[in-house]
Amino acid sequence: MDDLRDKYIDLIAGAADEAALEELRVQAVGKKGEISLKMRELGKMTPEERQVAGPALNALKDEINAALAARKTALADAALEERLKGEWLDVTLPARARAQGTIHPISQVTEEITAIFADMGFSVAEGPQIESDWYNFDALNIPGHHPARAEMDTFYTHRADGDNRPPHVLRTHTSPVQIRTMEKTGAPIRIICPGRVYRADYDQTHTPMFHQVEGLAIDRDISMANLKWVLEEFFTAFFGTEVKTRFRASHFPFTEPSAEVDVQCEWVDGQVKVGQGDDWLEVLGSGMVHPNVLRNAGIDPDEWQGFAFGIGIDRLAMLKYGIPDLRAFFDSDLRWLRHYGFSALDVPTLHGGA
Ligand code: DAH
Repeated sequence: MDDLRDKYIDLIAGAADEAALEELRVQAVGKKGEISLKMRELGKMTPEERQVAGPALNALKDEINAALAARKTALADAALEERLKGEWLDVTLPARARAQGTIHPISQVTEEITAIFADMGFSVAEGPQIESDWYNFDALNIPGHHPARAEMDTFYTHRADGDNRPPHVLRTHTSPVQIRTMEKTGAPIRIICPGRVYRADYDQTHTPMFHQVEGLAIDRDISMANLKWVLEEFFTAFFGTEVKTRFRASHFPFTEPSAEVDVQCEWVDGQVKVGQGDDWLEVLGSGMVHPNVLRNAGIDPDEWQGFAFGIGIDRLAMLKYGIPDLRAFFDSDLRWLRHYGFSALDVPTLHGGA
């Protein structure tokens, strides 16, 4: 009986799967199994022999059944272990980012503009959106009676009754940041000033709030040629293709001489394409900073000179990304924002074609 036990305990321990175990069960304790056959022999024994062999055989049968059950559990545990290894999931891993919201085209284009000018050595300056009459007009050589004041559809703030000082305004352009920067840092200067500006006007190409970027470069030896180079360099980088410019003599109170600048373009199926064809589209005002403006900001015009320009950011965004109506920029329509918005990971770089 010991031989029988050793044999089956060994075989059961070595069984590789449930099928092998079942085969062993049949062989040992099945109806015609070795142990069952032995039990049948009990009938032929003397009562004394049976008294010894009976309990011993029963105990052996129990032991084999227990070994079979234990092995079965062990095999099931091993199989589960194996499965868990394959299906293992690290619940501590960070979740995959889900894109929520988009970068507004104005923000994107402002970043693009900043990246391009930063590469040419311009830093960013900012100023307040509620501006004094002095910074928005007078310091820029626009006196009280000047027609430019009337043309700008200015929003005025309210003064208390009896307070006769000129009211503050919502800045009508980013040019006052020129004055503030000149006062603060003195010459030389190389800055751009992007930001919000306000005028009481509303149609397909005008909204009461819009965006400009002002440029200012002041040094000892700056000319219109530098202005032209900087602008052509900018437009070529911005539109990702060589863009010709056309300078037209114009007039601004704060520059002398002044020029309006057009970019080369072509109309294709009602859409304007910049950097091809032989039409022209006006995109900015510019010129050499007027000596009065330098003087108003504490810079000696006999020693320093420079150029300035002002570009509409919204206009540039419409041109580059084929957006037909300016008003939609500020409607906060989610469908529009999802369509024209940019991924937060789409950070403008020069090598990425800012
Ligand atoms: N400030 C002008 C405007 O809002 C734009 C402009 C024109 C800015 C010529 C300049 C400049 O710096 O030189 O219409």
